[in-house]
Amino acid sequence: MMKVIFDTDPGIDDAMALLYLSKLPEIDLLGITTVVGNADIATTTRNALFLRQQFGMTAPVVQGAGQTLDGVDKAEPVIVHGVNGLGEIDIPAVDESGLVAGTASQFIIDTVKANPGEVTIIAVGRMTNLALALRDAPEVATLVKQVIIMGGAFGYQGRSGNMTPAAEANIYGDPVAADEIFAAEWPVVVVGLDVTHDIILDTDYLAALSREVGENGELLRQMCDHYARFYKEIMGLSGVVGHDLLAVTYALKPEWFETRRGPILVLRDSIAVGQTIQMPEDRKGGHPAWAGRPNQTICIGVDAEKVLTHFRETV
Ligand code: BDR
Ligand code: CA
Repeated sequence: MMKVIFDTDPGIDDAMALLYLSKLPEIDLLGITTVVGNADIATTTRNALFLRQQFGMTAPVVQGAGQTLDGVDKAEPVIVHGVNGLGEIDIPAVDESGLVAGTASQFIIDTVKANPGEVTIIAVGRMTNLALALRDAPEVATLVKQVIIMGGAFGYQGRSGNMTPAAEANIYGDPVAADEIFAAEWPVVVVGLDVTHDIILDTDYLAALSREVGENGELLRQMCDHYARFYKEIMGLSGVVGHDLLAVTYALKPEWFETRRGPILVLRDSIAVGQTIQMPEDRKGGHPAWAGRPNQTICIGVDAEKVLTHFRETV
């Protein structure tokens, strides 16, 4: 079984990823760590507890960073995930017993050290918790099996940012943390907008989820009513994008993705703050800005039909 820590800011597409994780027998979910992003930290943590309970999951929830490393408050517009982070669905009182004491970054350090070479971290929010773990215990980089990140936009398939034309939301939200993650010597795979925008859940697909999956499918469909308005009004898309579920798919089916290797950096300031740029590994001469950074993997293509079928059949 694959041992996984899921670092998240639920979030509607985070909820899709959690439902997926709850149904995958190949995955041993060791913990759900939360971060500020789609809503404030109290709300994303409450949502993680609610979804854990709703989806019958047993992994503990650990609250993480409520402040980003650059100290800049970049609240996400409520039009995306709603005031409650889950598209304004009714959320009942949650069972707090799933919440364990301590910080997310310490949980990541302790769990990785207790399972050397075995833990895959799937991070689908701002990368603040991961960067704090690396700052406090740089040796975790050598002990982790793999880090799969939903974030960034590298310009493949003409895809630019979603927060600004330069920057994707998870990177824009904490560019300092993201840049530290990409600079570290650990195996990172980036599942960015270059591929996630191929994963469109349209009205028919969501109706099928509601029919075939029952209560939890209907819950996702209701959340997506809100999410779809954002995609229609702001992005001109019909349907919603399943960003975070695709990071989970990568963990299981990397052969469904086309990838590129090379060092990555993040612009920490300027009007393009949060932009992610990869220097292709075979580019002769390179540039000093990327010098000393390890090669990392970015996804530039995906078999979307296989992904959507797998998600639907799994949940
Ligand atoms: C990412 O930003 C968040 O709003 C989503 O949950 C996803 O992780 C997409 O840019
Ligand atoms: Ca997310």
